[in-house]
Amino acid sequence: MAKINRNYLKLPGSYLFSTIGKKVREYSASHPEAKIIRLGIGDVTQPLAPAVITALHSAVEEMGNAETFRGYAPDLGYDFLRNAIAENDYRSRGCEISPDEIFVSDGAKCDCGNIQEIFGTDNTIAVCDPVYPVYVDSNVMAGRTGEYDSDTGRFRNVIYLPCTAENGFAPELPEEVPDLIYLCFPNNPTGAVITKDKLQCWVDYANEHGSVILYDAAYEAYISEKEVPHSIYECEGAETCAIEFRSFSKTAGFTGLRLGFTVIPRELTVEGVSLHSLWARRHGTKYNGAPYIVQKAGEAVYSEEGQRQVRSQIAYYMENARIIAEGLKEAGYEASGGINAPYIWLRTPGSMTSWEFFDHLLENAHVVGTPGSGFGPHGEHFFRLTAFGSRENTVEAMERIAAM
Ligand code: MLT
Repeated sequence: MAKINRNYLKLPGSYLFSTIGKKVREYSASHPEAKIIRLGIGDVTQPLAPAVITALHSAVEEMGNAETFRGYAPDLGYDFLRNAIAENDYRSRGCEISPDEIFVSDGAKCDCGNIQEIFGTDNTIAVCDPVYPVYVDSNVMAGRTGEYDSDTGRFRNVIYLPCTAENGFAPELPEEVPDLIYLCFPNNPTGAVITKDKLQCWVDYANEHGSVILYDAAYEAYISEKEVPHSIYECEGAETCAIEFRSFSKTAGFTGLRLGFTVIPRELTVEGVSLHSLWARRHGTKYNGAPYIVQKAGEAVYSEEGQRQVRSQIAYYMENARIIAEGLKEAGYEASGGINAPYIWLRTPGSMTSWEFFDHLLENAHVVGTPGSGFGPHGEHFFRLTAFGSRENTVEAMERIAAM
């Protein structure tokens, strides 16, 4: 008789953003007159940059011609893209990452979720609290987290690192040493950042204890302050303890096109085994490479024109972030983030829980956000708004919130 993976039964009923989507659909069905503004899921709204569109068109033409047609992509990505990434994202910042340490994929979410497969199920994990749900959920599926404790809202075997207003939403080093440490900066959901010195402490800690840092840098393109590191490889010794994830979704609006990459330095070993070779084995077995046309689109992001265009999109979203952060403060809310990240993190008014505020905002302003408690117990009494809406919707949402 077939058996299910019972670890799945320990998960919350549905993924956070699916729960929100369902609630909003139900509300819309019963209030068809409501013009709902969605500032919940961090999905981009601006069209792809013209340089990307040109590259897509020309790659499609190549695919329609017998001489230039491409079949399976190389498992780890085309050299043209890996070279562009190594040069522009790393070497130009003084990080010695070579193209063959870069694994191209269809997005950072898949890589962040799948990376745990190359580690034993007996590893302990540490996550920030609040945290992007994928890190915990994918480890629950793998049976690494123990049982869920409904009293604390936590899995018993996970080390939670509180991120609070008091510590500037940047976690302290844990006393109990984890084997795997998930860090995401600029942070989703709080929009907080970590200084290079503080990140260096994490790198030193991981090297000292033999831990591996899984560093999600999906929002690095939004960094505006000089002292904030764009990559963990800016820290000394990171190549022996850290894996980094990057995404084209937020950097260049590829949420619907799908492209990302993971960096695993060749020097990174665990129990004498190279993680680079394990991930290459995994990629080769379970993945046939991101589509050629999408990788050509990714290459175009690094052209001079592409860079100019995506930077202007990022500036557009960051102006939205400014409008939201200032609007909230003027309306009397305590809010942070939105300076180096497209997320604004606000404290819910009075004693309202995150989900109560979600309903309140939906019913009274027809604005959708994300309840902080959906990201972990320390997210309770907080709420996330994204800057990825259109300017018109962002301005209108803030007017409605102020009036509310
Ligand atoms: C979010 O809203 O947190 C993001 O859209 C999630 C993601 O990038 O997968």
